[in-house]
Amino acid sequence: MNNKKVLPEKILDMHWAYAKTSVLAAGVELEVFTHIASGKKTVDQVSKAAKSSRRGMEMLLNALAGLGLLAKDKAGFFNLSPESSEFLVRGKPGYLGDMSLHAMELSKIWLHLAQCVRSGKPYTAVDEKEDAEDYFPVLVRGLFQMNYPCAKYAALYLKRNHMKISDILDVAAGSGVWSIAIAEEFTTARLRALDFPEVLKVTREYVNRFNLSDRYNYIKGDLRRIDFGKERYGLIILGHICHSEGKIYTQRLLKKSFRALKKGGVLLIAEFLLDKDKAGPLMPLLFALNMLVNTNQGDVFTTVELKRWLHSTGFRQVKILDKAPSVSPLVLAVKK
Ligand SMILES: C[S@@+](CC[C@H](N)C(=O)[O-])C[C@H]1O[C@@H](n2cnc3c(N)ncnc32)[C@H](O)[C@@H]1O
Repeated sequence: MNNKKVLPEKILDMHWAYAKTSVLAAGVELEVFTHIASGKKTVDQVSKAAKSSRRGMEMLLNALAGLGLLAKDKAGFFNLSPESSEFLVRGKPGYLGDMSLHAMELSKIWLHLAQCVRSGKPYTAVDEKEDAEDYFPVLVRGLFQMNYPCAKYAALYLKRNHMKISDILDVAAGSGVWSIAIAEEFTTARLRALDFPEVLKVTREYVNRFNLSDRYNYIKGDLRRIDFGKERYGLIILGHICHSEGKIYTQRLLKKSFRALKKGGVLLIAEFLLDKDKAGPLMPLLFALNMLVNTNQGDVFTTVELKRWLHSTGFRQVKILDKAPSVSPLVLAVKK
């Protein structure tokens, strides 16, 4: 018999998990990290700079220190931790503050999780134009920061492996993060970005920022309805779109992409993937529920499932790049 006393710590910690997210988001919203980076180190200085109450700011700074995002010295001065210095100071290249704010927005939708589990229906449908155009123009800016290092990794991998790439289709392009990083390495390639019209405004903004506008064309509309053509592209990118499409539409998307690739062309997929028993990793398990509350049919697939669909579509060479600098792996499939 196991006499070890069972403790409720894990559950108690989960009761308060949202508080950590809220503390982080409040710190970002009030620009606490940016103020500290610019030399404001005391409660008085930061609360004044953030136009906030002294009482509230003292509690917030102490909590951020408790969470390890600030360090408080004996004299009561606050300093940034290595993570907050790198990722939470506005203007830094790795700034992730927009994602912290998005996490709070998302939490409002997650409040309806039990209801969505009961009905099997989403609370919002970001796979449809109306909700997508509300939701993604903000989110894709945060995703740019998250995905750019991994997109760069993909671009360098393709280059190192001497892939011939002259025409690229970036499906559900968002900020254009994947194709932009690839365009920087394949300097003569022509690119097409496909997304809903409101999101493409953001794509154009990023493309212009990277001085790539003369190499891009745009396809406005619903990826489920648009014909990608036949044997037109050397590379097609599906960056974090299969999960919101779900099983049936993903398999259709793979078929459409296969048809649109030239012989020797590459399909690049960035996606959360589960192990074969759906026992982990935790992030994709949680992300599957994110798809339940936010999409009609979205889901997270196992690596085995995705490979099987790719093979049955006709892709012969499928490679998983699981060392990519990201929470989700990359999948490369070649049309032989
Ligand atoms: C999670 S974001 C990914 C953006 C980008 N590929 C990235 O990896 O950062 C999903 C993108 O798919 C677009 N999208 C979703 N459903 C779509 C559809 N049916 N047709 C066209 N675009 C769609 C959204 O507007 C959004 O830009």
